[in-house]
Amino acid sequence: IRQLVKQRRPRGFPPGPSPIPVIGNIMSLATEPHVFMKKQSEIHGQVRYLNYCGNIWHIMVLNGYDAIRECLYHQGDVFSDRPSLPLFMKMTKMGGLLNAKFGNGWIEHRQLASNSFRYFGRFQKPLDQKILEECMFFVDAIDEHKGKPFNPKHLVTNAVSNITNLIIFGERFTYDNCDFQHMIEIFSENVELAVSGWAFLYNAFPWIEYLPFGKHQKLFRNAAKVYNFLEQIIRRFSEGRVCNFPRHYIDDYLNKLDKSAGDLGTPYSRENLIYSVGELIIAGTETTTNTLRWAMLYMALYPNIQEKVHKEMDSVLGSEKSPSLADKKRMPYVEAVLHEVLRFCNIVPLGIFRATTQDTLVSGYNIPKGTMVITNLYSVHFDEKYWCDPGTFSPHRFLDSNGNFVRREAFLPFSLGKRHCLGEHLARMEMFLFFTTMLQRFHLQFPPGTVPSLTPKLGMTLQPLPYSICAVRRQQ
Ligand code: HEM
Repeated sequence: IRQLVKQRRPRGFPPGPSPIPVIGNIMSLATEPHVFMKKQSEIHGQVRYLNYCGNIWHIMVLNGYDAIRECLYHQGDVFSDRPSLPLFMKMTKMGGLLNAKFGNGWIEHRQLASNSFRYFGRFQKPLDQKILEECMFFVDAIDEHKGKPFNPKHLVTNAVSNITNLIIFGERFTYDNCDFQHMIEIFSENVELAVSGWAFLYNAFPWIEYLPFGKHQKLFRNAAKVYNFLEQIIRRFSEGRVCNFPRHYIDDYLNKLDKSAGDLGTPYSRENLIYSVGELIIAGTETTTNTLRWAMLYMALYPNIQEKVHKEMDSVLGSEKSPSLADKKRMPYVEAVLHEVLRFCNIVPLGIFRATTQDTLVSGYNIPKGTMVITNLYSVHFDEKYWCDPGTFSPHRFLDSNGNFVRREAFLPFSLGKRHCLGEHLARMEMFLFFTTMLQRFHLQFPPGTVPSLTPKLGMTLQPLPYSICAVRRQQ
């Protein structure tokens, strides 16, 4: 109780807003925390302190490109841990991959997953070919709406999740697989619930687990259902496994597990397999799906930008040739549009929470080991030092005066450093191929007289509110 009432900022920590007794600065994490934190940093500096429920959790917030680069890149090892928040402990016991503590277990799991991604197709078609096959299922399913209004959310989710399904299970699931869809639905509900007020309360007061009400209970029920589903499906797809001939990620993992049998220190376990599979599915699906949903929305909102996309695609591909990864270099405008969607829409606005592995110094402040760190990626993409007029949606900022694509330094949708997004390469392939296949066939427009809200729905990710769109077949 003394801890809760004291509200003292640790010696040497950066300044921050005055905490409210007992709850600290928890309210800063309410409505649009990424916007609030950026505004605060403009007045008080890029490195900020937040008090989370008394002295239970000290949080350092990093705002702007310079501060984030200083920590995640120049002090890579120090900023590569995840905080042992009670919610994360309960969900994955800090094992698996995405939420794993920095150390051998994380290294082994990350390596295994990257190898499965990289060597996908060693016994069958290359991954980009398989993505293109999925793109065809996707555009055919859109065609079934015959240009009438529909909400693209489920279709995009199904198509995108099938790419991770191919890597993890070696198979795609049909768009009418209700069990899989239900699992994804409650899993992504948890991505929202994980940053709800109840989740924050649970992190501060884990004993509320025993209260019979509260949204955290829903989160726990959802997680139990998801793990149960994953356990069954993993068992089904591991049938017929032959050593040295892995068909997919699950076989790869189980081979490692077999090889490490008897080794007491091994990080491989059936439980960690379930956690990693869950993390790969949700990290791969939620993010890429939201990016494509935003991209569709902005194309309908800005017909002049969509027209330029169509023009470029028509000149490079014509109407017959399917897009391929090799065409990417010849489509700088499409690349610029996708980059601007990632910058402007901030799919993972606060990154994934990090923690420090040792005491360190940041901008003259002493930061102790175990401090939770929030990287405000939104503030990087709206950093006035690096972006001119950041509040305007303008793909041209990624083009030079000759129309060539230019990389921008302060562009970190996949974060930075040792724990940067494992799926960046895959996500870039997916976004390009899904987007171009869709726009080659369709013109996107809102149903007459409607313009959807641009306000994002908040969770660990930012997604558009449900909207309807018409995909009208193009006549080239
Ligand atoms: C981590 C963004 C797609 C797998 C992350 C992080 C961000 C991010 C910001 C946090 C990194 C940090 O801790 O600072 C995105 C975006 C995507 C995308 C914007 C799509 C547009 C994917 C895909 C996969 C994936 C397709 C895999 C199927 C992961 C994993 C991590 C991660 C496993 C945790 C890495 C670790 O802790 O070592 N992603 N991601 N992501 N992402 Fe992605």
